Amino acid sequence: MAAPRARLPLLLLLVPLLDAGRAAAWGKEGHIMVCKIAEKYLSASAAAAVQELLPEAAGGELSTMCPWADQMRFRYHWASPLHYANTPNVCNFKFSRDCHNSRGQQGMCVVGAINNYTDQLYSYGDPKSSYNLTESLMFLAHFVGDVHQPLHVAFEKDEGGNTIMVHWYRRKANLHHVWDVSIIDTVMKNFYNRSLDTMVDALKGNLTNGWSDDVSHWENCENKRATCANDYAIESIHLSCNYAYKDVEQNVTLGDDYYFSRYPVVEKRLAQAGIRLALILNRIFDKDKADVIPLHVQ
Ligand code: ADE
Ligand code: ZN
Ligand code: ZN
Repeated sequence: MAAPRARLPLLLLLVPLLDAGRAAAWGKEGHIMVCKIAEKYLSASAAAAVQELLPEAAGGELSTMCPWADQMRFRYHWASPLHYANTPNVCNFKFSRDCHNSRGQQGMCVVGAINNYTDQLYSYGDPKSSYNLTESLMFLAHFVGDVHQPLHVAFEKDEGGNTIMVHWYRRKANLHHVWDVSIIDTVMKNFYNRSLDTMVDALKGNLTNGWSDDVSHWENCENKRATCANDYAIESIHLSCNYAYKDVEQNVTLGDDYYFSRYPVVEKRLAQAGIRLALILNRIFDKDKADVIPLHVQ
C-alpha cells in the first residue's frame, strides 16, 4: 500500500518533464539549419541589427540562439502554446478558430507569436521602445522555424502527433518526434556524413539550383507590415494531412517507404523557413525599403 503513494510525488515531478518534451520543436539541428540559411540571405542592415541584438553568448551567429526558445520552456511557461497551433482535427487552419491557448486567449499560437515579435522588432532604433528586442529576435527566429514543421500545425486530438506511437525503423518514437528529429537525423546520416554544415550547404545549393524557380513564390508575401505566417500555417496543416499523418496509425512501423517520400518535404520546409526568416528580418530592418524583396537568391 505504501509503495504507490510513495511513487506519486516522483510521477508528479516527471509530468512537466514529459510535457515539455512533447512540445519541443524541430530538434536543435533543424532550428540551427533554418537560421544558418537565413543568415546567408540577410541584407547588410539586417545583419548589422541582428549582430547588435544578439547576446554575447551567441558568438556573433544567430543560428546558435535559434534553439533557445525550447530551452526556455520551463522558465517561460506562458510561451509553451506559442510553438504550435492545433486545429479541431480538420485539414485547414483558421486564425480566429485555431490561434489561442488553452484558456482561449486569442493570438496565443505560433502564428500570433510571429506577428507579435515582428511587430515588437519594428520598434528597433526607437529609444522609447520598452521591449526586450534580443528576446523578440530569438523568439521570432525560433517560431518561424516551428511554423514550417508540418506537425506544429496539426490536430488537437493527437497533440500534433505527440500521442501517436510508431516505430521509426526499429526504434520506438512518437510521430511528432519523427518529424522534429528522426527524419533529419536519418538524412544527415545517409546523405551528409552526419554533418549539419554539409546538409546546410546542400540545402543552400538546392536554393540556387533545384528550387530556384520556387523561391520567388516562397518569398511572395503581400502583407507589408505583419507577416505571412498565416499562409505558412495553412501550408503546414496541408502537409500534415497529405504527408505526416498519411498512412499512419498507432504502432505502425515507418521505414523506407515513409522515409523516402517524406524527407524531401522536410528538406524543403527547412529551406523555406530559412528564406522566409531572412525575408521578415530584411523587411523589419530595411523599413525604408519595405517594398523591396532583397533576397537575390543566386
Ligand atoms: N503540443 C500540443 N500540440 C502540439 C503541436 N501541434 N506541436 C507541438 N507541441 C504540441
Ligand atoms: Zn515539435
Ligand atoms: Zn519550438
